[in-house]
Amino acid sequence: MSRPRLYVARALPDPVMAEIRARFDLTNAPTPAPPSPHQLLEGLAEADAAICTLTEAITQAVLLKARTLRIVANCAVGYNNIDLDAAKARSIIVTNTPDVLTEATADLTWALLLAAARRIVEGDRLVRSGTWTGWEPTQLLGADVYGKTLGIIGLGRIGQAVVRRAQGFGMRILSVPRRNDQPPPLESVWQQTSLQTLLETSDFVSLHLPLTTDTRHFIGTKELRLMKPSAFLINTSRGPVVDETALVSALQAGQLAGAGFDVYEREPAIHPGLIDNSRVVLLPHLGSATTTTRIRMGMMCVENVTAVLKGQPAPNRVA
Ligand code: GLV
Repeated sequence: MSRPRLYVARALPDPVMAEIRARFDLTNAPTPAPPSPHQLLEGLAEADAAICTLTEAITQAVLLKARTLRIVANCAVGYNNIDLDAAKARSIIVTNTPDVLTEATADLTWALLLAAARRIVEGDRLVRSGTWTGWEPTQLLGADVYGKTLGIIGLGRIGQAVVRRAQGFGMRILSVPRRNDQPPPLESVWQQTSLQTLLETSDFVSLHLPLTTDTRHFIGTKELRLMKPSAFLINTSRGPVVDETALVSALQAGQLAGAGFDVYEREPAIHPGLIDNSRVVLLPHLGSATTTTRIRMGMMCVENVTAVLKGQPAPNRVA
């Protein structure tokens, strides 16, 4: 009996690929590199199911050519790369990978926050440069974290996990819950404020919004002007949530002290003004990048595909 045909956009960790090969026939030979638009179109056109990542644009044009496709399992919690309306119109199910990456992404948010505040990357560079001449009373002075104010924009799963860590740092936590947030979590530990107050008061502002038409450039010139010159902006959500040109201008004008970014407006391109700024810590979209988490995400995709191809409900359906 022929097995279901699966398109896998990019090679996933070995245990996931082994499980995939045990259950499905592949319509392509995935590598860690992204497929070309042509490869994506051709691979999906022959498939019953697909596992994609956040770098593949699953557009209406792609979906229209995929005549046998029943599910796109996105190996990410965000799914702004998929045209959900086009998928719905073709009755193609879309799934994501929530929960399994929450803690890893919150950990990385803290890594960025601490690295930006305490100048970790600059310190590492200095030591490696061979020019460090020893301890100095005023060398690489950074900002305090313990006891400071943290503004969380987006109190979803990851935002809440960041809040849990902030409690260990004795922080005052401010938030502006989004309309569709669940009943306010951890209410005793965070205070709800207006966006303006959050931006004016926080020593660290951390973004945890999904990318939608409403959240594109949620942080721009006006919002950056409200931040304290001693404050830091941390983004582990999606790049276009921040107007990068406005951020570079604000950093150059001293409107904020620094930033920690894992995501960018036009990945993998990075604004040269960010590259040139030593008070900005830049990571290559590593939020969920731990071995265990990436295996869990891949397995979750496999389970979603398996369920749909058996005619069962997808455990992590978003559309
Ligand atoms: C990563 O950015 C994700 O959405 O999982």
